[in-house]
Amino acid sequence: MQNVYLDQAATSFPKAPGISGAMTEYIDKIGSNLNRSSNELAAAAARTTLETRELLCRLFGFPDSAHVVFTPGVTYSLNYVLKGFLKPGDHCVVSSMEHNAVVRPLIQLSRQGVAIDRAPCDREGNLLLPQFEALLRPETRLVVMTHASNVSGTILPVPEVGALCRKRGIAFVLDAAQTAGHLDLDFEAMGLSALCFAGHKGLLGPAGVGGMLLSPELAQSMEPLIAGGTGSVSDSEEMPDFMPDRFEAGTMNIPGIYGLNRALKYILEMTPQALREKEMALVAQFIEELRDLPGLRLVGEPDLARRVGVVSLDFLNRDHGEVSYQLSERYGILTRCGLHCAPWAHKTLGTFPQGTVRFSFSHFNTEAEVAAAAVAVRSLI
Ligand SMILES: Cc1ncc(COP(=O)(O)O)c(C=O)c1O
Repeated sequence: MQNVYLDQAATSFPKAPGISGAMTEYIDKIGSNLNRSSNELAAAAARTTLETRELLCRLFGFPDSAHVVFTPGVTYSLNYVLKGFLKPGDHCVVSSMEHNAVVRPLIQLSRQGVAIDRAPCDREGNLLLPQFEALLRPETRLVVMTHASNVSGTILPVPEVGALCRKRGIAFVLDAAQTAGHLDLDFEAMGLSALCFAGHKGLLGPAGVGGMLLSPELAQSMEPLIAGGTGSVSDSEEMPDFMPDRFEAGTMNIPGIYGLNRALKYILEMTPQALREKEMALVAQFIEELRDLPGLRLVGEPDLARRVGVVSLDFLNRDHGEVSYQLSERYGILTRCGLHCAPWAHKTLGTFPQGTVRFSFSHFNTEAEVAAAAVAVRSLI
């Protein structure tokens, strides 16, 4: 039995072609650190790292590669931004669809006097914009929001939220974990102050590398959460005040950057639009095959234009752990069950505490795999 990997929202598989070769090349033939040494190999690693920042600028419509900061991933990026920027007495607004990567740092900050409000979303996961706007007040310093829910796949109205934040001088931070590489993202057009991304999901790179794009205004008002050696201004005991060194203490994940570099070239060549078209055709097929079946609720926004390739199913009469296990054991269909690190999203969608069985797709999946998954689901309702 061949496995059908439908857990792309957790991490992509397969990865972009060539990333293991790019990583091996660095490990076997380059090996040098960044910013530390002045030799030919260090220069080669520096060139690839700078090129990777520039590729991210191209992908995300971002003007300045110096403001692209590498981190171990989107969770780290969100912690850096939230904990580096928010202070006691500040107010922060989030949506009711957030992942714990946003919620848990904010709960920690709330113990230090940061006030938090959750803007309500409807049962399909759509943000209720008037209610969101009503929560903004003079002490509101930051809005942080997922671009698309990792539970329902619903896309939130990011440009509209960005415009409201810009009008009021509020910083706007995007959790692009589920949209980077899947949607066309434009930092400026979305009115962002920061975009946080993972390398291992839609960008089709390795785990352990991600980053954040910071506007100059936000970067200037953020304290570096992690301090240490940067290979620059070593005579000072303070973190550098220039980018990206200010937020890149310690040795970066250089093999990861090489892998991400190759993956970004693949995505830019294929284009996110073309990848999305293929992925959403598979989602449409899956939803069509399962529509209106008794005992099964398809969670999330029905209009596919407002979704990414994540489909959560609520098996009304079955235990989701058992369903996911049977899908794997009997059919080789690999999914994820439970709350997907986003309990409030489930409360919003009406799937708490039972959670869902989540099927998530990439353009590498095929129509035959989707058909097999639909047959398996029907047999388990
Ligand atoms: C919306 C969202 N935010 C944040 C994360 C955290 O990603 P990572 O574990 O790669 O840091 C995820 C991962 O599933 C996610 O779906």
